[in-house]
Amino acid sequence: MKQTDLRVGIIATGWIAEKAALTIQHMEGVTCHAVASRTFEKADAFARKWGIAHAYGSYSELLDAEDIDLVYVGTPHSHHFDVTMEAIQKGKPCLVEKAFMANYDQSLAVVKAAREQKVFLAEAIWTRYQPVVKTIREIIKSGRLGELRLLTGSIGYSMGDKPRIMRADLCGGALLDLGVYGINFVRMFCDAKIEQIESQCMKSDTDMDLTNTISWRMEGGIMANIQSSACCVNDNQGTICGTEGYLIVDNINNPQSVKIHKRDRVFVEEIKVPQQITGYEYQFLACKDAINNGLTETPYMPLDETLYIMKLMDDLRFKWGVHYPMDKR
Ligand SMILES: NC(=O)c1ccc[n+]([C@@H]2O[C@H](COP(=O)([O-])OP(=O)(O)OC[C@H]3O[C@@H](n4cnc5c(N)ncnc54)[C@H](OP(=O)(O)O)[C@@H]3O)[C@@H](O)[C@H]2O)c1
Repeated sequence: MKQTDLRVGIIATGWIAEKAALTIQHMEGVTCHAVASRTFEKADAFARKWGIAHAYGSYSELLDAEDIDLVYVGTPHSHHFDVTMEAIQKGKPCLVEKAFMANYDQSLAVVKAAREQKVFLAEAIWTRYQPVVKTIREIIKSGRLGELRLLTGSIGYSMGDKPRIMRADLCGGALLDLGVYGINFVRMFCDAKIEQIESQCMKSDTDMDLTNTISWRMEGGIMANIQSSACCVNDNQGTICGTEGYLIVDNINNPQSVKIHKRDRVFVEEIKVPQQITGYEYQFLACKDAINNGLTETPYMPLDETLYIMKLMDDLRFKWGVHYPMDKR
């Protein structure tokens, strides 16, 4: 580890924590310096597997450590709030997995705290940080697609009875886990004011949304159509359609290619994304860059945008009758 390395402390040892450790292991200038679990045995096993210097048997112990430059929160959404709030109060910069919090109220509270304490805070919605975002924005700006009219995004995984999806106390449902990618896909490329939203969902026996469809109309005559499912597989494609052509993004959960077509479905060009470790590396690099430059948020995913999307998801859930114990409304 070099003196200038960003020392990351990973909170939790689940699926995404493994991906983070794997990614960081192959990165230059970023080191996985510590891991914390609810039990020391799990933290220790994780640390040994990934060659991590420090293992802690509670999240608070890691948050007390002085040699952490960035806390990466990889607990279920239901458990993002307490650990993030504690980290901010202890002055620790934080990168928090998507969905950022259980709801808008929690999101607003942590954002307010981070802004008051002047502590770095960001949402780990990895697709926002990937270089292909800039490429697609440039294609749109160049006018090759003509005037934007429609954006679509589908995402689906058959996730069985995974507790994180089925249980209200773990903030279940497809929207917060998967739909958030579709919403971010549209918002990254078109953040025009939303004038009207229509949506519906199919629910589990536990009242969580398993499949949902959302469509919204924006200022300027642009529409978006987003669907997500935790009970069927999908091609996970996104499309951006204009008056002169369209592009297909494969896939909106970790883009690998962008195919551009002009009128009459005539294929024009395929752009492949640069070689990546896993695709998660860009979010850590963005945090390092922001922290080194004294910023308290990253331009890749401004906190106001995170708040906007959390509010949007609250409104959708409440309309569907999908409620979590943390919801005050
Ligand atoms: N960016 C992505 O591509 C991506 C992909 C998958 C998931 N995620 C996000 O990452 C977060 C975690 O997802 P995951 O798939 O890693 O979940 P997971 O495999 O279930 O792991 C979650 C971890 O959180 C900790 N935890 C703390 N309180 C818990 C509780 N009450 N119940 C269960 N676990 C608890 C546990 O670690 P300890 O026992 O060590 O404390 C557990 O291993 C979610 O917010 C999810 O949306 C992001």
